[in-house]
Amino acid sequence: MLGSGYTGRLLYKTGTVEGWTVHATSRNPLNNLAGIPSEQRLQFDLEQPSTWVNVPVGVDLIWCFPAAPFEQVQAFARTLDASPRRIVVLGSTSAYDAPSQSTEYPPPWIDESAPIDLTKPRVQGEEYLRSELGAIVLRVAGIYGPGRNLLDWIRQGRVGPSRKYVNLIHVEDLAAICLAAVEKGTPGEVYNVSDGLPHTWNEICGTAQQRWGVTAAAVKEVPSPGKRISNAKLCSELDYRFRHSDLYGALDLIESTRSQS
Ligand SMILES: NC(=O)c1ccc[n+]([C@@H]2O[C@H](COP(=O)([O-])OP(=O)(O)OC[C@H]3O[C@@H](n4cnc5c(N)ncnc54)[C@H](OP(=O)(O)O)[C@@H]3O)[C@@H](O)[C@H]2O)c1
Repeated sequence: MLGSGYTGRLLYKTGTVEGWTVHATSRNPLNNLAGIPSEQRLQFDLEQPSTWVNVPVGVDLIWCFPAAPFEQVQAFARTLDASPRRIVVLGSTSAYDAPSQSTEYPPPWIDESAPIDLTKPRVQGEEYLRSELGAIVLRVAGIYGPGRNLLDWIRQGRVGPSRKYVNLIHVEDLAAICLAAVEKGTPGEVYNVSDGLPHTWNEICGTAQQRWGVTAAAVKEVPSPGKRISNAKLCSELDYRFRHSDLYGALDLIESTRSQS
């Protein structure tokens, strides 16, 4: 696991529970990976080539931070041995935010064949890893879960009611999907990762008010229509079944855990 932030930490736990031996990396492992046994804790910094040798030979890689800058991605990729390994790279659905994005409403469904914005450095990095090393690229929607609670974003005025569509994925599903991609993904393929149920911020803020009494701080300007991300390929080819397909049920759980802590 290259990069052990919000998703990486849960991925470490999920993988370990499922019987994988997971090595976790950080630029500063002593500070950031204190809970992980020392033999599974590695220093890795894409910007520091001297740390690249710490990646064990022949392991599968799950790349959990933006694959940029491009030159460093290329240089690191060239150091990887040719032994069989799966590489899964976490990208973002923002790859589809091309300048010519449609203003149609509701926005059209987007599958993996939609145009991507190759001017974005991370998209260049992902495409390089996919075409040269057969990496599996996951285009990930907005990640939420414990500690990343949409209701807090509304309380804090970071988001507000608008007709914009948002696509989301619970971090527990994302971690399980990363492991499913290592096991069952086809090298060189792209999979959209979203719970498949885009919501508008109007709908989320309305439900937040009715169900939890959370009032949005401000109405946001009407921005772009957003996107509706299709997860059909993920469901059919990786045969993935969601633990949290009901956003509001998941938010109930997050709120109740928070009020106990
Ligand atoms: N957050 C979202 O809603 C969202 C949506 C779509 C896609 N994504 C993508 O999904 C992935 C996982 O997201 P996340 O929110 O779990 O990420 P995160 O919490 O930011 O964790 C990524 C970790 O990678 C490490 N890292 C950063 N730059 C690095 C570098 N140059 N070399 C080596 N390690 C580096 C950092 O840990 P250390 O400081 O310990 O090194 C960082 O905590 C990311 O690629 C993110 O861009 C996120």
